[in-house]
Amino acid sequence: MSNPSEAELIHTFKGIPFTTRSSPELLKALDTFDAREDDVLLVSYPKSGTHWLAGVITKLYNTQVTLTSPIEFGDISKLEELNKLSTKRIIPTHLDYNMLPTNFKNKKCKMIYISRNPKDIAVSMYHYYRDNPNLPTIDTWPAFFDLFLKGDVVCGSWFDHFLSWEEHENDKNILFLFYEDMKKDLPKTVKEISLFLGLNISDNDIQDICMKSSFSEMKSDTEKENSDPSHTVCALTSNRKLIFRKGTVGDWKNHFTPKQNRRFEEIFNEKMKLSKM
Ligand code: A3P
Repeated sequence: MSNPSEAELIHTFKGIPFTTRSSPELLKALDTFDAREDDVLLVSYPKSGTHWLAGVITKLYNTQVTLTSPIEFGDISKLEELNKLSTKRIIPTHLDYNMLPTNFKNKKCKMIYISRNPKDIAVSMYHYYRDNPNLPTIDTWPAFFDLFLKGDVVCGSWFDHFLSWEEHENDKNILFLFYEDMKKDLPKTVKEISLFLGLNISDNDIQDICMKSSFSEMKSDTEKENSDPSHTVCALTSNRKLIFRKGTVGDWKNHFTPKQNRRFEEIFNEKMKLSKM
């Protein structure tokens, strides 16, 4: 059987490429979504450390919570599915701020945005694309590098995504985190998250959560994972090798040529002129 065509895998909604697993009907209907005040949103551009953050957050609660698949993933029945959940909902999303259902904003739901060095994101996404049959075929790293810089990849431009959220950095209901800070001092970030969520967690529990959230623990922790990809944080694969690949900072140095690095920096400096990053 031949590989599915790009059109079968990707469609564009409001100028942003989505996989066809996010139906246009769902994307259109998202704005009618009924948010609850105690919903927690886990926001990221793909490959920023979403699974890691989700792993940490779900371990912080000692009451029952449900970690859903991304809100934008699925068909129109997704809204009803989320409505029916009676437990507290932890909802991942890769939507940019402008596309986020208004109800989350009006109800001031807590949102945690995780970001990462975009050079490492580009490399992580390249491997993810290359090995994932649910995404268009990528021939070479240089070809992917160009697509990433143009924003011609799922969820669009990293720059636009980051900037749309950074504008709300000081909103009291939004916590900004960085993958690199989690790598440097995970207990500190876990403490920060628990305070933000209003949870009282002992230092011992924080140590325990950090141990259970290490790259190696999470990678080998396969039993609890739901093998149906449409119910996972990633929603495009249940292949753990694609998600838990290396888990390091600076892998871009093994991929970027000096020329690619210069080009990236030029575009970064131009697009991020007004950013504090
Ligand atoms: P790499 O491809 O660089 O290894 P996301 O969850 O947003 O899809 O991001 C996936 C990236 O987060 C992958 O990066 C993955 O290895 C890394 N990651 C997942 N769990 C991690 C953990 N516990 N510690 C460090 N990195 C982790």
